[in-house]
Amino acid sequence: MTRIVNTEQDVAWNGAEGAHWAEHNDGDPVNRELTEALLVAAGIGPTTRLLDIGCGTGESTRMAARLAPHGHALGLDLSAVMLERARAAAGAAGLDNVTFEQGDAQVYPFAEGQYDVAVSQFGIMFFADPVAAFRNIGRALRPGGRLVFLCPREMTANAWYVVPIAALDGGAGRLPDSAMFSLADPAQLTALLTDAGFREVRPEPLDLPMAFGTDLAEATGFYLGSGPVRAVLERSPDLTPELARTLLVEALRPYQEPDGVRIPGANWLVTATRP
Ligand SMILES: C[S@@+](CC[C@H](N)C(=O)[O-])C[C@H]1O[C@@H](n2cnc3c(N)ncnc32)[C@H](O)[C@@H]1O
Repeated sequence: MTRIVNTEQDVAWNGAEGAHWAEHNDGDPVNRELTEALLVAAGIGPTTRLLDIGCGTGESTRMAARLAPHGHALGLDLSAVMLERARAAAGAAGLDNVTFEQGDAQVYPFAEGQYDVAVSQFGIMFFADPVAAFRNIGRALRPGGRLVFLCPREMTANAWYVVPIAALDGGAGRLPDSAMFSLADPAQLTALLTDAGFREVRPEPLDLPMAFGTDLAEATGFYLGSGPVRAVLERSPDLTPELARTLLVEALRPYQEPDGVRIPGANWLVTATRP
């Protein structure tokens, strides 16, 4: 096992948060449209050598590997349980140009200058030292290599986050802080990536609904086990899990569509170049 410096994240993603995401991110790809937009922006060709940072259960890594049959995709993540799923799915799909490694992207000893592109779908907002982390990722890229990732815009623009939590909090909207929104400010994000050595940093808005389940029961189950909802439950002794379930079902009902529960999301699709 390589060095880990983001120990809090390591504990979360190898504990409740990782188990939760592994359970709900298995099987059918959720949010495939977002992943497709990410991979199109990454400009993957048949021989591309790609890194997927915070790959989770690896759906984006496998999709990238299929676009690069003569290249290679390496998925890196902290979470053993999510990587287990990622490897099993790659094996079942017969993909031989994809590998998954457990490690901390902030300090992982990537082969230097060996990758054409590094992508991430919501896996790069959690670094304790983001400049160090993006610099480390930049070192892995060849000169002219590209960094392409998705991260959420400001919290209040993300109904998928605000609506369920406001419903549980009686509309008071005491939204728990979340590292998920650490890259939401485009000026800060651009300054940070520039400090880390990237150029031509371009955050473009990408607003697509987020899907958290194929029906109300599944979406409610997803939210009940998620970190932000667990935080609200912990600080609200009167809110029983049964009451929370009822409130969530009512809050999510307006977003129910024939193919699942889809709630507006607001993201940045960020592209940057390593000089
Ligand atoms: C919100 S999940 C996204 C997972 C996946 N990319 C997806 O879209 O389904 C964030 C992922 O980032 C990973 N992660 C967080 N900090 C990390 C770090 N320092 N190094 C590597 N992975 C990290 C977590 O383990 C988790 O799998």
